[in-house]
Amino acid sequence: MTTAADGSPPAIRMRGVQVWRWVAVEERRAVLLDEIEWTVERGEHWVVLGPNGAGKTTLLNLAAAISHPSEGEVEVLGARLGQVDMRALRERIGTVEAKLGRAIRGRAPGIEVVLTGAYGSIALQHRRIEPADEARAERLLAEIGAGPLHDRLYEQCSQGERQRLMLARALMDEPELLLLDEPTAGLDLPSRERLIASLDAMAARDPDLPTVTVTHHLEEIPSSSTHALLLAEGRVVAQGPIAATLTAANVSRCFEIGVEVARHGDRWAARLSDDGDGALLPYAGD
Ligand SMILES: Nc1ncnc2c1ncn2[C@@H]1O[C@H](COP(=O)(O)OP(=O)(O)O)[C@@H](O)[C@H]1O
Ligand SMILES: [Mg+2]
Repeated sequence: MTTAADGSPPAIRMRGVQVWRWVAVEERRAVLLDEIEWTVERGEHWVVLGPNGAGKTTLLNLAAAISHPSEGEVEVLGARLGQVDMRALRERIGTVEAKLGRAIRGRAPGIEVVLTGAYGSIALQHRRIEPADEARAERLLAEIGAGPLHDRLYEQCSQGERQRLMLARALMDEPELLLLDEPTAGLDLPSRERLIASLDAMAARDPDLPTVTVTHHLEEIPSSSTHALLLAEGRVVAQGPIAATLTAANVSRCFEIGVEVARHGDRWAARLSDDGDGALLPYAGD
């Protein structure tokens, strides 16, 4: 196993990974991921980009120790999936995804939502809360710029406010790896920008914490991102340091559409290219 200079194993390492599912009605295998070789080191902030159905969530579920590969090896925080207690491993990983957000009790104030993260459960166990937990939850809320959400009922929070609470919640148990699946999906512009500012604030306060953020829009990439992986039809189109990876050629190939990629400071944007290649490429079918 390769290790970083300080001796810690990579946060994520995938080798020769394939994931397939049996589609009974069609009597065939659907290959969701294929030939994945990917390493995330501590302190790296990855963004995973790709069109709908590319396999992004499937990839994140491997990294989250939620599912196993059909072929190949996945190591998360030095533990090889298939050889370790998945539940124990999951306790070391923070996740932000919409399904969990929908399961939270609506009448809970923001601070309680964050506190549930201390015990990896969505229900708050009042007897187990220590003053130190409460102090940590308050500090996290403040650090990601969500202090005003302390007393707001979850059911009265906007989608963006809920996502920021879910981010603070995911950080509550001091995860060693943080995974975010489309955290900005469905947010309006101010909400999206506030959440991205929270992600950048988090990266600044805890630069060693490795993160993987899934998105399908370049405009949603946090400034703190260091690496990118482009995924299409279950395969890696390109991966590496972000500036070298988010080229017009790579992004066009990934999304099967001719685009220009612009970088404004540390933020990214894509638009149809207007040099003649910008026309939608012929639709290849699903
Ligand atoms: N259990 C399953 N059986 C068959 N196909 C599946 C299953 N789960 C997901 N898929 C398919 O796998 C592809 C990748 O899904 P997913 O990882 O959710 O993509 P993304 O998150 O990039 O949109 C999609 O085409 C999806 O329809
Ligand atoms: Mg997905």
